[in-house]
Amino acid sequence: VLDPSPQAPAAPVADVHIRASFDSADGLAELARTSDVVTFEVEHTAPDGARQVELRRPVRPSSATLAACQHRLREKRFLRDHGFPVAPWHEADSAAALDAAARSVGWPCVVKIPFAGYDGRGQVRCATPGDLAAAAAALGFDRGPLVIERHIPFVAELAVIVARGLDGERRTYSVVKTVHDDGILVEVAAPAAVPQAIAERARVLAESIAGALDLVGVLAVEMFLLERGEVLVNELAPRPHNSGHYTINACSTSQFEQHVRAICGLPLGETTLLRPAAMVNLLGDRRGPARLTGVEQALSDPQVSLHLYGKAEVWPRRKLGHVTALGDGPDDALARARRAAAALRWEPLAASARP
Ligand SMILES: Nc1ncnc2c1ncn2[C@@H]1O[C@H](COP(=O)(O)OP(=O)(O)O)[C@@H](O)[C@H]1O
Ligand SMILES: [Mg+2]
Repeated sequence: VLDPSPQAPAAPVADVHIRASFDSADGLAELARTSDVVTFEVEHTAPDGARQVELRRPVRPSSATLAACQHRLREKRFLRDHGFPVAPWHEADSAAALDAAARSVGWPCVVKIPFAGYDGRGQVRCATPGDLAAAAAALGFDRGPLVIERHIPFVAELAVIVARGLDGERRTYSVVKTVHDDGILVEVAAPAAVPQAIAERARVLAESIAGALDLVGVLAVEMFLLERGEVLVNELAPRPHNSGHYTINACSTSQFEQHVRAICGLPLGETTLLRPAAMVNLLGDRRGPARLTGVEQALSDPQVSLHLYGKAEVWPRRKLGHVTALGDGPDDALARARRAAAALRWEPLAASARP
């Protein structure tokens, strides 16, 4: 793995940890030298780096797929050019252009930075024309044009993880329901309690997008479900995604194993949902060293599993782990996962107890 952090979560399971920045030419050369095939877990790496590695080793998904998905404008253009349904959107490279763009997409709207936003960071919701100036000031145009899109009054958010192998074989996981709080994913329920026709529409969309991207690996497609059954594509992530973490416990092939199978050119595994499941994220609620308490209580439900990412630092709303619960149905699973998550707390660690 290439990761600048000495506490890289992947380092303990990697053969070699190359400590260099994601765009370090030396680090990338070393990564290419020591690997048979290269993939990425973070999209906010420079596509130039992926292209550099690609000269020596297969990068899967490809640098072209990475480039299309990591930049909101390129992603929107890709979706539009292939005829996939998206919220009305526009780009704007100045405050004046933002005013005009807002009029064309309609109110309320959301203004987003074009690059490196995640977990709802880098976006501002605007209800009236008066909000636009503050959004422009907060986000700035220094990263390139801002993306402005209509705020969609969705009835639910859905997500689909699709895997595509080297030979184009596709396997798709259940359509799940996701819940975001202020832009950050907090809960997932699998399967999504939606009519079969809607689940089918979401599945076909995800598989078509994977094909259009010429994807090798797994792809998460985030969607908005509208009142009349229409499904719009919100965002793409060409990697294992938070909305698919439940697959570790609820499917015979997790999204992580599936990704590795796909990029190594191995046959894909079964994606059937073996039991209804739900996932609740564990977010940091303070800054500084902290210790997780309540584990015994959380695990007193035998259908609950706890996953911690080993991130060295806690900060407010940082994703630090998740709980998955299996259940008799998605609602039962969700109730169990919520109960377990509610029992868990980050307690500040006294200075003397710090490792
Ligand atoms: N146009 C929109 N209409 C309604 N909700 C939105 C819109 N854009 C973003 N959101 C909300 O914010 C969340 C995060 O936005 P998203 O564009 O997926 O960015 P991120 O990269 O932070 O995940 C979405 O899952 C959704 O809940
Ligand atoms: Mg998103």
